[in-house]
Amino acid sequence: MIHSKVANVHNLAILLLFANTSHAQMMDYKVIATLNQTLYTSMSVVVDDIAYPLKSNSTYPIIFSGEAPIPKSGYRYAKTANATGEQLLEPFLRSPQAIESTPHEFFNRTWNKHPNARIPQVYSATSPRDRVVSSLHKDDEIPTIYFSANQTALDLMHRSYLVDPVTVNTTVSYISLEDAFQFKNVELSLAGRSSNLLAKLSYIFKIQKKESLFGYRRIKLRSLGFDPSYVREQVGYDILSSAGVASTEFSYVRVFMNDRELGLFGLVEAFQNPWLANEFAGGDTSYKNGYLYQGEGAPSSANDTSDLAYYENNITAYAGGQYKVKEEADGESKDNFQPLMDFTKFIAEAPVNTSDAAAVWNKTMDTEAFLRSMAIEVLAGYSDGYIINSNNFFIYQNPKTQQYIYIPHDLDFCLGNTLTNISRLSSGNYTDIWGWDQRPLIKRIMLVPEFQNRFVNLLQEMNEKLFNIDVVRPRIDDLADMLQEDVSWDRTLPGVGKVNYIQMLRVLNN
Ligand SMILES: *[C@@H]1O[C@H](CO)[C@@H](O)[C@H](O)[C@H]1NC(C)=O
Ligand SMILES: *[C@@H]1O[C@H](CO)[C@@H](O)[C@H](O)[C@H]1NC(C)=O
Ligand SMILES: *[C@@H]1O[C@H](CO)[C@@H](O)[C@H](O)[C@H]1NC(C)=O
Ligand SMILES: *[C@@H]1O[C@H](CO)[C@@H](O)[C@H](O)[C@H]1NC(C)=O
Ligand SMILES: *[C@@H]1O[C@H](CO)[C@@H](O)[C@H](O)[C@H]1NC(C)=O
Ligand SMILES: *[C@@H]1O[C@H](CO)[C@@H](O)[C@H](O)[C@H]1NC(C)=O
Ligand SMILES: *[C@@H]1O[C@H](CO)[C@@H](O)[C@H](O)[C@H]1NC(C)=O
Ligand SMILES: *[C@@H]1O[C@H](CO)[C@@H](O)[C@H](O)[C@H]1NC(C)=O
Ligand SMILES: *[C@@H]1O[C@H](CO)[C@@H](O)[C@H](O)[C@H]1NC(C)=O
Ligand SMILES: *[C@@H]1O[C@H](CO)[C@@H](O)[C@H](O)[C@H]1NC(C)=O
Ligand SMILES: *[C@@H]1O[C@H](CO)[C@@H](O)[C@H](O)[C@H]1NC(C)=O
Ligand SMILES: *[C@@H]1O[C@H](CO)[C@@H](O)[C@H](O)[C@H]1NC(C)=O
Repeated sequence: MIHSKVANVHNLAILLLFANTSHAQMMDYKVIATLNQTLYTSMSVVVDDIAYPLKSNSTYPIIFSGEAPIPKSGYRYAKTANATGEQLLEPFLRSPQAIESTPHEFFNRTWNKHPNARIPQVYSATSPRDRVVSSLHKDDEIPTIYFSANQTALDLMHRSYLVDPVTVNTTVSYISLEDAFQFKNVELSLAGRSSNLLAKLSYIFKIQKKESLFGYRRIKLRSLGFDPSYVREQVGYDILSSAGVASTEFSYVRVFMNDRELGLFGLVEAFQNPWLANEFAGGDTSYKNGYLYQGEGAPSSANDTSDLAYYENNITAYAGGQYKVKEEADGESKDNFQPLMDFTKFIAEAPVNTSDAAAVWNKTMDTEAFLRSMAIEVLAGYSDGYIINSNNFFIYQNPKTQQYIYIPHDLDFCLGNTLTNISRLSSGNYTDIWGWDQRPLIKRIMLVPEFQNRFVNLLQEMNEKLFNIDVVRPRIDDLADMLQEDVSWDRTLPGVGKVNYIQMLRVLNN
């Protein structure tokens, strides 16, 4: 950190600015920053050692911009305390990449764009997947998301999630290097269940109809709070994508609420419309989706787990809390569990040893997508998915084919981060994995020789081509390098949850 005391730096700068405009070549500077109003009250850019003031943008208050000469040696941004003239300078010198204007740079980040190695595509997408082309996930930069809202309402949201979840009406600004968008009337609430126990919380926001962020209206911000490496979930979704499995993709964002720095988050798509059209119909706005069910594991309020067991003649048993209707089929009712029940009945009763067994299964579900997902659960040591926890998946009934599709999500507990004793995941024999011999869909599908063979085949092939340190190391190293400064920033932030969690425990215990 560089503190330098420069008296009257602004007056000097402004004088020089006027003196020089006739011959100095000027350019626009733009930086994203927050000012701690009790200490640092203004922003400036220091060009060749002379400070020029930057003004807060009236639409995007965290963008500071202004004109100053094109530097001869370099420039850096500075926060200034008006009262004392004390400057908090970036500890490195920037050099301009363009002569007219900088992109939206970020205060105290030494890089703007960080190209990262990618994991190669090992399998093409299974046939129902038809993903829209979108710029939502930017791999080589970290955009900023800024919420402005009634602070009292935000505090209330952060405090009352277990008892009475609060939704706050916010204005959302999205700022990447080149873009700046603003959305009004965005509904913000907390997301995640176990992550609510952390100081850093996870969020979901919903943009109003007719507007979207690169084609998506519902976005989740994952706190990454369970993963000290900050890269596991990114790599987990990279692997799903490389294996052609339908799911969200993943990228990073910096998040702010009013004057508060919330830190580095993972940005993922929420599985609600228009997500289905984006994933299975190339973004077709006239797409008529089928039912989407969420498997929620074993919530304490439910008698059963979402293991896809068949409850014979008892449709109300599906509505016990272990499953959720995430989206109803176009024009159909919101609380219909019949298609899910039909699927579990199929699982329980479908032929496994007749000559047409594989064909019958293929007609009813995307078997390949499911087998790829299970191979990834095994190889990634995913301890919060279907095998170990009957958790974190969706079942989608594709209306084009009536086939059911298994969609995995929430990959924070993988690649060495685990909820389960890791020795249960790493014996080298997948049948030893806790839960393997209990999940109805696994027990049944593995009885079909074609699928059992395909599964073993997938394990071997993915082990070679994907779960191979030579394949993923360049990606992991690049991500780690990209995130270094943001992680050290994130780790200085106090979070908004923990204090409230303790307070809440106190309230509950009294
Ligand atoms: C602002 O700076 C003061 C003095 O360093 C500090 O006490 C306070 O916590 C800071 N406020 C915020 C919101 O960071
Ligand atoms: C505010 O920032 C946006 C994004 O950089 C820019 O397009 C707009 O011109 C700025 N407005 C003003 C008044 O500077
Ligand atoms: C600090 O100084 C800047 C530029 O001189 C001015 O625009 C701003 O209003 C001042 N802020 C405060 C809080 O005094
Ligand atoms: C801010 O939110 C609180 C809590 O919801 C509410 O009581 C208050 O009226 C709101 N203030 C404004 C200005 O809307
Ligand atoms: C959200 O707040 C804005 C501005 O305060 C208001 O105009 C709008 O009606 C609110 N929207 C909702 C859905 O409450
Ligand atoms: C149906 O399932 C519910 C929830 O598990 C259970 O309480 C109820 O007894 C079941 N009904 C019958 C007829 O089995
Ligand atoms: C759980 O089972 C009990 C006893 O069978 C039943 O009374 C209750 O309704 C069930 N709860 C749910 C959510 O199905
Ligand atoms: C075929 O599977 C059925 C049901 O799973 C089972 O009852 C039957 O014994 C099996 N037949 C053979 C020849 O394995
Ligand atoms: C089942 O589907 C898989 C994957 O699409 C395919 O490779 C296989 O040939 C199909 N088997 C039958 C019998 O239809
Ligand atoms: C995990 O399981 C292994 C083998 O059963 C056991 O030796 C070890 O103590 C267990 N670790 C924990 C933390 O329970
Ligand atoms: C894996 O474990 C199962 C059950 O524990 C056993 O039947 C099987 O032979 C083992 N496979 C290998 C390759 O060790
Ligand atoms: C810049 O970030 C580094 C960590 O990457 C931190 O140590 C330093 O205090 C920061 N400086 C300013 C001026 O914010």
